[in-house]
Amino acid sequence: MIRKLSLAAALALAPAAAMAAGAAGHIEDFAFSFEGPFGKYDELQLQRGLKVYTEVCAACHGLEHVAIRSLADKGGPALPEDQVRAYAKGLAPVALPDGEERARETSDHFPASGLPTAPDLSLMAKARSGFHGPYGLGINQFVNGIGGPEYIASLLTGYTGNEKEEAGSTFYENTAFPGGWIAMAPPLASDGLVEYDDGHANTARAMAEDVTAFLMWTAEPKMMARKQAGFTAVIFLSILAVLLYLTNKKLWSGIKGRKKKHA
Ligand code: HEC
Repeated sequence: MIRKLSLAAALALAPAAAMAAGAAGHIEDFAFSFEGPFGKYDELQLQRGLKVYTEVCAACHGLEHVAIRSLADKGGPALPEDQVRAYAKGLAPVALPDGEERARETSDHFPASGLPTAPDLSLMAKARSGFHGPYGLGINQFVNGIGGPEYIASLLTGYTGNEKEEAGSTFYENTAFPGGWIAMAPPLASDGLVEYDDGHANTARAMAEDVTAFLMWTAEPKMMARKQAGFTAVIFLSILAVLLYLTNKKLWSGIKGRKKKHA
């Protein structure tokens, strides 16, 4: 029975292990502000990441599941309302069924990918977490993060500079991309590509981290609320445990106390 069970377990785990060890690329560990049980999004970093996304990534990618008005959310980029309205106006207009167009509003979502081969990035930071995250039984993920952001940041900084042509398309060598060759040209190839208003360094690596943090927020905007709810639950359950222990002691004290006297 035990042998059967362990065989089944080995079979179940084998594909995951093979995927983790095999063709997967090299993932670097980045320290993000939102990692760990007390981690939080850094408002200014999300704003910088939005800028990188808008000026660089949005040329090809979309964020079709993200509502523009959420840019004003506390705990997110927390942009002032008037800036969010101006941002919405600057995006591509919404195509109406009758062939007409109207200006995009804050109640709309971001545009979808303009380049059909470029995947939508709304949920990418979570979609890529499974096989790139730190290994372990859960505690490790809790402390070190889920791996999706590590993957994206490693991807953006993982270009070697080598290119090859195959079937009429160009592929770029990338140490993080599974298989090693990606069809996306290095989007953050040089420092200073995006001007930051907050004076933060805008090296290629810093821009990669900032846009990654922004993409983590698009994939999980309520992460901080979730962590907070988890803590409230832990504290509440701890207090409840102490109260139950004391109640139990009190209920039995008569009987247990008597026993001691006789002994
Ligand atoms: C010139 C167009 C273009 C730009 C600009 C661009 N990308 Fe891409 N991106 C692509 C294409 C095409 C793919 C699909 C590549 C493939 O599957 O080989 C891709 C794939 C990706 C992937 C998914 C990789 C995977 O695991 O499948 C991520 C993440 C990504 N891009 C992030 C970004 C970010 C962040 C930016 C901005 C800093 C950006 N991209 C800018 C074209 C672009």
